[in-house]
Amino acid sequence: MSASIGKVRIFDTTLRDGEQTPGASLTPDEKVVIARQLDRLGVDAIEAGTPITSKGELMGVKLVAKEGLKAEIYGLARMLIADVDAVLETDVNHVHLFIATSDIHLKHKLRMTREQALQRTLEIIDYAKDHGLIVEFSAEDASRTGLAYLKRVYKEVDEAGVTRINIPDTVGIMTPKTMYKLVNEVKSTVKTPLSVHCHNDFGMAVANTLAGVEAGADQAQVSVNGLGERAGNASLEEVVIALNLLYKKRSNVVPELIYQTSQLVARLTGIPVQPNKAVVGENAFTHEAGIHTHGITALPLTYEPIDPKLVGRRRKLVAGKHAGAHGIKVELDELGLHPSDEQLQEIVVKVKEIGDRGKIVTDAELIDIARYVMGEAAVEEEKIISLEELAVMTGTRMIPTASVRVVLDGKDFSSAQTGVGPVDAAMKAIQTITSSIVNVNLKEYRLEALTGGSNAVAEVIIKVEDVDGNSVSSRSAHEDIVKASVNAMITGINKLLIRRRLHSKE
Ligand code: KIV
Ligand code: ZN
Repeated sequence: MSASIGKVRIFDTTLRDGEQTPGASLTPDEKVVIARQLDRLGVDAIEAGTPITSKGELMGVKLVAKEGLKAEIYGLARMLIADVDAVLETDVNHVHLFIATSDIHLKHKLRMTREQALQRTLEIIDYAKDHGLIVEFSAEDASRTGLAYLKRVYKEVDEAGVTRINIPDTVGIMTPKTMYKLVNEVKSTVKTPLSVHCHNDFGMAVANTLAGVEAGADQAQVSVNGLGERAGNASLEEVVIALNLLYKKRSNVVPELIYQTSQLVARLTGIPVQPNKAVVGENAFTHEAGIHTHGITALPLTYEPIDPKLVGRRRKLVAGKHAGAHGIKVELDELGLHPSDEQLQEIVVKVKEIGDRGKIVTDAELIDIARYVMGEAAVEEEKIISLEELAVMTGTRMIPTASVRVVLDGKDFSSAQTGVGPVDAAMKAIQTITSSIVNVNLKEYRLEALTGGSNAVAEVIIKVEDVDGNSVSSRSAHEDIVKASVNAMITGINKLLIRRRLHSKE
């Protein structure tokens, strides 16, 4: 662990390299929404896109530039006049210019000699600077470029007056040791501040980025959720938190906003975060094992190297086959349930039986088990919201419409909404009413037929989540799919509201 003190610049490329993730594509307006959030997060630079790519991309970069954010806004350009002109059209002040320098890229992609590439580089840097742009330079595939030539290129661009020199590990083949050595070599060659840009093909992007910083780079190019070409880039959240907690280096990023930024990017790109991803994954602060939950509730530091609050999150305890009485008791306490010792033992046995069948017990199921063991009356749930009336209209020539009336906190509310179908319309009507208290997102919806025939009983299992990332599951069974869905939704929202109130009393 290094203990040096220093500030590292965070250059975010979620909107450029991140958007090159297979399957990710953002509209200009979505780029603006993410850029605003990145600016609140405190990144120093935002690479908003590659303007030459398309009209929409150019528009996206232009709209981001127009926002007047604190962060520097960059457009990416190859060493081509047309690319730089496209960047100029967006009104950004900063350009990230790149050219491949490895022999494999020069020969098979660019069909240029080393001398031609260097000459072109210097011409285009001059062109960009003459047009008032501040230039960051990248030697693409630097990590596979002959060292003597790479140093020559960097020395010449240094003298040409670029503002920053970036060292990309384009295909992610470095190790922390080789990355440290490379950055160290470049550092002894140039005066310009250095940056690193590492890809994750071997799962080393974050480690290599940190090694680059240790060797003297004072900027890391990163992306939210590690999005990027192929296996992605070094992830912003992991780099920032590791710098902060392990390397004692500061950045301008506000860690508490990391989780909501990650969620926003996942939602708008449509690329979900893997559950076991460090810092922002669903499981990063979730504890299931019995021994762990005991330790965690006694002293969080026993199994939590990162305080969840630091990154805008909350600890979650879940029950499964590894669960112990202690963890389950804490979880039930949180849900407002207080079984006797014998009842608790019985609940634990039942949870483990379910766990042995390879399942996790959601809090909705834990309440059901507790209700069974403790007796219905003992766990009569508080009802913050209850359904009073439901009416749906649908047909071949009309837009499905639902109207609902609920009692929320003792007051009557009604709403009517349209949707793609009656279930969608009814769910939206409920969400409209509860949005005055909390915005609830429907994260999962599963429908199963429990019996056969057209009068089959349908079971609806849903997962709802509030703005703070609290999620609960609930289920309901009914012959009418709309009723089953609405009941499950009402139960889920009820649980979320109860949980929020319990937490606000803490
Ligand atoms: O990975 C890479 O080399 C890049 C460059 C454009 C910097 O993304
Ligand atoms: Zn890249």
